Amino acid sequence: MTPDTNVRKTVGLAADRQQSFYGRDIVSVRQFTRDDLNYIFTVSDEMRSLVHRVGATDLLKGHILANLFYEPSTRTFASFAAAMQRLGGSTIPIHGVQYSSVSKGESLPDTVRSLACYADVIVLRHPEVGASEVAARYSSKPVISAGDGVGEHPTQGLLDLYTIYAELGTVDELNVTMVGDLRNGRTVHSLARLLSMYRVNLTLVSPAILRLPAQLKQELVDAGLSVRETDRVENVISESDVVYVTRVQRERFEDMHEYEAVRDSYEITPELMANAKEKMALMHPLPRVNEIHYDVDDDPRAAYFRQMENGMYIRMALLAAVLGKA
Ligand code: CP
Repeated sequence: MTPDTNVRKTVGLAADRQQSFYGRDIVSVRQFTRDDLNYIFTVSDEMRSLVHRVGATDLLKGHILANLFYEPSTRTFASFAAAMQRLGGSTIPIHGVQYSSVSKGESLPDTVRSLACYADVIVLRHPEVGASEVAARYSSKPVISAGDGVGEHPTQGLLDLYTIYAELGTVDELNVTMVGDLRNGRTVHSLARLLSMYRVNLTLVSPAILRLPAQLKQELVDAGLSVRETDRVENVISESDVVYVTRVQRERFEDMHEYEAVRDSYEITPELMANAKEKMALMHPLPRVNEIHYDVDDDPRAAYFRQMENGMYIRMALLAAVLGKA
């Protein structure tokens, strides 16, 4: 194959990938292939470079994003808004649906049908599992999930995986340890599913009542992932390349006594980090409560704020791709 043919094939592949994202809903990481991931990560690299060089562009000038959030958010809401604005587009911010007609009893289908009349893409956070799929069925414009209940948070999964690449240069053959509320943590569910597309050794660290749902664990094992469970992070930190810490999700507990019993199960401290590899990534989707001590923040292995920034580049790439402009 001549270099020319190579170039044509690469360009062709990129065009195919772009075509496959155009107009598409993003509701679960299960919809992605490895080629999709490579494509989004390549475009995210370009978005990072663009922001560092010039700050913004007019790629999505004239396009509007409706940011529809039925649950609290800092990062996802702000990074989607920033992503759209850095691409020259604008947003309809609905943060706190009590001030929208949802408080008058309007249904999710009617709400998204309405916003689809004004916006070109809808980003939805909702407390119920499957809400994004419902919204996608009723919306004439692409719907991107910003997290639905204890189900999935697909764009967070993408930015988490992108961060592992950015921090360690690879994903295959890594020992990835997930710590905390693996039952309710939707970011864990999305990232674990993405990791099952790679050759990864996965260690799950949680109290018994916060274990990863059995069905998802089986899905990972069936996909060929090596999975083990423990309740002691100190026993596994030294062999981990990635430690992905999560908050115990107070808002998902019906019994507050149960929450109180597990809320302080883990804290990553400088003493614990002293046993970790010299080259590893300590990650957290944020917000943190007290799972990572503030004294760890200056450790060069603490990747959580870089991880958060990566979210904007991933979301810029997704918006451009879904709107056919990547
Ligand atoms: N990681 C994440 O989803 O953060 P927010 O809840 O602040 O959006």
